[in-house]
Amino acid sequence: MCGIVGCSGTSDAIHPVMEGLARLEYRGYDSAGISYRKDDKILNHKKEGKLQNLKDLLEDIKPASTTAIGHTRWATHGKVNDTNAHPHSNDKLSIVHNGIIENANALREFLKSEGMEFLSETDSEVFLNLLTLNFNKTKDLKQSIIETFKKIEGNSAFLILNKENHLLYSIKRSAPLVCGVNEKTSDVFVSSDPYALVGFTSKIYFPEDEVLCELDFTKANELVQFYELDGSTSKRFKIQEKEVKLDVVSKGKFEHFMLKEIHEQPELIKKLTKIYFSESNKEQLARIGKESFPYVHLAACGTALHAGLIIKNYLEKYTQMRVHSDFASEFRYKSPKLNSDELGLFISQSGETADTLACQELCAENKLKNYSIVNTEGSTLYRNCDENLLIHAGIEIGVASTKAFTQQVLVGNLLAKAFANKLSEKEVIGEFELLSDKIKNLLAQEEKIKNIAREIYQHQGFIFTGRGIQFPIALEGALKLKEIAYVHAEGYAAGELKHGPISLIDENMVNIAIITPDLYDKTLSNAEEVKARQGILLVVGEEGNKELEEMSDFFIGLDFEGLDDTVPVLTNIVLQLLSYHIAKLKGTDIDKPRNLAKSVTVE
Ligand code: G6P
Repeated sequence: MCGIVGCSGTSDAIHPVMEGLARLEYRGYDSAGISYRKDDKILNHKKEGKLQNLKDLLEDIKPASTTAIGHTRWATHGKVNDTNAHPHSNDKLSIVHNGIIENANALREFLKSEGMEFLSETDSEVFLNLLTLNFNKTKDLKQSIIETFKKIEGNSAFLILNKENHLLYSIKRSAPLVCGVNEKTSDVFVSSDPYALVGFTSKIYFPEDEVLCELDFTKANELVQFYELDGSTSKRFKIQEKEVKLDVVSKGKFEHFMLKEIHEQPELIKKLTKIYFSESNKEQLARIGKESFPYVHLAACGTALHAGLIIKNYLEKYTQMRVHSDFASEFRYKSPKLNSDELGLFISQSGETADTLACQELCAENKLKNYSIVNTEGSTLYRNCDENLLIHAGIEIGVASTKAFTQQVLVGNLLAKAFANKLSEKEVIGEFELLSDKIKNLLAQEEKIKNIAREIYQHQGFIFTGRGIQFPIALEGALKLKEIAYVHAEGYAAGELKHGPISLIDENMVNIAIITPDLYDKTLSNAEEVKARQGILLVVGEEGNKELEEMSDFFIGLDFEGLDDTVPVLTNIVLQLLSYHIAKLKGTDIDKPRNLAKSVTVE
């Protein structure tokens, strides 16, 4: 969600902070701001809208400083405007915040009664004011941060800059925050994502919750000190010294990252089998093959949950395991019955989604074994799970997830087959390669999908339908369209249409029906019911099927020959392209759709 970056050292701190913010902008882009020390003053510049607005402002100001903190915001409390943008600062302190302060209202009332003034509508300013009040009394910043943090409820990460010196402080609870050092230059860094620090640091520290980090580039050896909330030295942190290369992320010949990421899928699928069946990785699937669980609890959010629903199908098809799946935000509050011989399975692109992490913690507390299917190596989910199946999708920039979904589904397929000891390398490689080729063919027909998009994009309502393993694809298709085209779209199990949603069908409603050979007759009858009510019917089905072609207003034919489990990946890519082209015709901001964030680190 919000991006946090800070730097302190002997040279320019503005550049690494702005570069880090640029890398994190896809996580939140309502507004951005930067604070820095100059001539023993704190200067603060904030701008509503994309980071470019702040960059334009700084072009004129040309700030120079060796200690700076910055933030890109995804609004939780208070409108999107310059005032509510972070950092929040006064003449002594400046802070940036990610998360939600749940007792902000009560603390605000108290602080007002103490004479503190509020400029913004944010909960973050409550932290600043309480910290300032404590600091005015104690004159001890470290102790004041600890005292203030203890009073804050909810999950948050803070980075604090002060007027007096070059020290940076950070602290977090169930929100991502890392510290980094460059051992050559002694520059120190903080960020809500290690990705922002690639190339700037040689060592990354991952502090645990409620550990105060003090970053001092003048210290002879330990540039970061860690403290418990009782003030004692803390050892609750991990270190990563592995050299991480910055994925070069450019749009290449594509107009949007989303389109580029859709087109990357054939190659990523081929790469996946190479990785999983390489000598060094085969051992992981073999190890999993020795495990068995009576029950799997699967939790994820958004697109990752839709991938999870397909993985549930695979697990039920290949193993005897019973599978319970739910939105992570629901799972955690439902008092699930968790036994220590069961498995927690978490699907996530970022590995930082707050609700998914909370479910993993809940399972860990109940002594379940925890597996992740995750894209980001080193993320919190990755660090906290017992077994991680990486999806190797590379960095995904488009906020609406595409290639990560495909890779999650395919890795889930490997997982289910590994559990069942039915993982034939030859068969899997055969099917994945065939899938990859069929996706290439489909991408070559993009023009056709674009033309259909042109015919339907002005309609106000879209109902996506599918049955069985295609039902999650109907959900995912509708989600994608909502996310990037801002139109009303719903996904339904085709058989449920007549239990309510069919009342919406008229000559203005578009039904995108996924009709594959699996459950063909039943799904076909549901589409007939739509046609009988003058609905506009777009069918995604098997190529050469005259029946489907004739009944539909628009038909997208796919070659399923030789595919088994991976058919939903292919149908989904049609829907990815369709959403993309509808959004493009509508002129929305495809890579950074309004109100969304790539990584949702608040509940
Ligand atoms: C956000 C993103 C979605 C994503 C969901 C889960 O809502 O916009 O694209 O599916 O979070 O994210 P995760 O990183 O856990 O897969």
